[in-house]
Amino acid sequence: MGTAPTNQSPDSAGESGANAWTPESWRGRLDPQQVRYTDREATARASEKLRTLPPLVTSWEIERLRSEIGQAQAGERFVLQGGDCAETLADCRPDLVASKLKILLQMSLVLVHGLKAPVTRVGRIAGQYAKPRSSPTETRTVDGREVTLASYFGDLVNQAGFSAQEREPDPHLMVRGYQHAAMTLNFIRSLVEGGFADIHHPEYWDLRFMEHAGLSDERRAQYRAMSATLSDGLRFMEALGEKSVEELTRVEFYTSHEGLNLIYESAQTREVPRKEGWFDLTTHLPWIGDRTRALDGAHVEFFRGIQNPVGVKVGPTSTPGGVVELIEALNPNNEAGKIVLITRMGASGVEAALPGLVEGVEGAGKRVLWMSDPMHGNGITTDSGVKTRSFDAILEELERVIGVHSRCGTVLGGVHFELTGEDVTECVGGASGVREEDLGLNYASPCDPRLNYAQSLELAFLLAGKLGG
Ligand code: PEP
Ligand code: CO
Repeated sequence: MGTAPTNQSPDSAGESGANAWTPESWRGRLDPQQVRYTDREATARASEKLRTLPPLVTSWEIERLRSEIGQAQAGERFVLQGGDCAETLADCRPDLVASKLKILLQMSLVLVHGLKAPVTRVGRIAGQYAKPRSSPTETRTVDGREVTLASYFGDLVNQAGFSAQEREPDPHLMVRGYQHAAMTLNFIRSLVEGGFADIHHPEYWDLRFMEHAGLSDERRAQYRAMSATLSDGLRFMEALGEKSVEELTRVEFYTSHEGLNLIYESAQTREVPRKEGWFDLTTHLPWIGDRTRALDGAHVEFFRGIQNPVGVKVGPTSTPGGVVELIEALNPNNEAGKIVLITRMGASGVEAALPGLVEGVEGAGKRVLWMSDPMHGNGITTDSGVKTRSFDAILEELERVIGVHSRCGTVLGGVHFELTGEDVTECVGGASGVREEDLGLNYASPCDPRLNYAQSLELAFLLAGKLGG
């Protein structure tokens, strides 16, 4: 099957001249989301600082994730990726980090149980601080006159407040972003070392959504049955004594973020002793967004040279041929575990776009992990101007994607959600019944709307039912 994996980055493979890759070879390529820092010296200082600080993640963790993604490509494992749309520096709080980790672990257990396969957990966390925007500027009416400022590009770049000073890109925010990612990761690493014993007991989970009056009897019965068998299964494993609670609660957890700001990414991209190639050590799984995946663009140039697995968001404007070219550029040797193709077509766009894409990529023999992001193609704005997404549309996209893969004989190997462990009111629907008029109650996202705790857990139950067959 395909070419044997080599562990070489393009330049160590002997490329020369115009095609040679270095951590800086993206400079000068087209970047539609380029951050324009005005203070060059401060930018150079921030880069240099990041270059000398310890890495956030290690090459062996990255290699382990790559091998797990390879297993998921072969249908032996599933990948659950989720977290905030835009993490903020202020989100670096123990309660928020712990609850995000908790919902992801609980969802993963529901999926392990439903799929009877191991699940790899990847957070959009500890660095999801840079956001692509549809317009570089934003205009608002302030004191009766129109004011245009740079858009908010996430806490890695500028600040959300609407003043000229806050919107000016500040290179020092890259160092602050790094520091907050490090603090977040430090806490995550301690928590996953065994501080989550209650996670494995659905008795301690908040399952109140199952009792909501709006839920059909059939769904309620289905959820209750699943949670009962899940409890039994976990108790059984403990009772067998094969695994201690401690062992059961020790989990692997990986981080990911959109690798939007290439100054930040490249400053932490290094060679490591006794290994070939370069590693982006800001995160385990960086991804390229739907707006920055141009074949000749800066992002594809940067990501083609690193050893990390790479996510690529693919929206409805992609073509099968274009995506195959993109995969060839990013993974010329067709190595396993390298490419995670994250499709986000919108519920109504799946049938038109996905079958052709699956056939094109599979027909070309490309190894990818098919992942579904049912969030980004399903954004809507209410009459009163609030950005939201409906639980039903999210579920519908997942159902359609599962249908397409089953017809094409391919596997859906992962899902990608925007979610939080908090009781926010940002997406409508789900058994716990967030309505349009509730959106103002606790809308906390500075960017896209996220599933709340109950909506996330319910979706895991539904997904486990659909994928488990
Ligand atoms: C995101 O994941 O927050 C995002 C901006 O996605 P996309 O690139 O798919 O639009
Ligand atoms: Co988003």
